[in-house]
Amino acid sequence: MQFKSGFVALVGMVATLVDASALPSPEPAELKDRAAEAADYDGSLYVCTDANWSGSCLNIGFYSQQCQNFPSGFDNEISSVGPTQGWNCHLLIDYNCNADQGDYWVQYPGFSDLSQDYGNDEFSSFECYSL
Ligand SMILES: *[C@@H]1O[C@H](CO)[C@@H](O)[C@H](O)[C@H]1NC(C)=O
Repeated sequence: MQFKSGFVALVGMVATLVDASALPSPEPAELKDRAAEAADYDGSLYVCTDANWSGSCLNIGFYSQQCQNFPSGFDNEISSVGPTQGWNCHLLIDYNCNADQGDYWVQYPGFSDLSQDYGNDEFSSFECYSL
């Protein structure tokens, strides 16, 4: 998405509020339902606070190449993560997709246990790219 410079700050704030209210509340993992819950977005990233898609889970709608910080309750808590098909998502330990503290890439179907991969309970932001 592109905004004229004078409107970036205001539009960004409004978009954040709308996104937060539009997100579904955490519910049990059903991988096949990931896409349905974020139909208005380009894709969605499914995250859970425990391994094997358990604990608290959230389906986060995203737009291509638009960085998002994970919301409270998921920031530094994610142990399972995977995007909808067709996306390569950049996971970052720092906020605002800053790669200075480490990063990792995930594609569908994702990682069910980040403690076996990288960055368990450490990621704070993400940005996805179309494959
Ligand atoms: C996840 O599920 C697999 C397969 O059932 C099991 O072997 C593994 O111990 C589970 N991991 C955790 C952390 O519960």
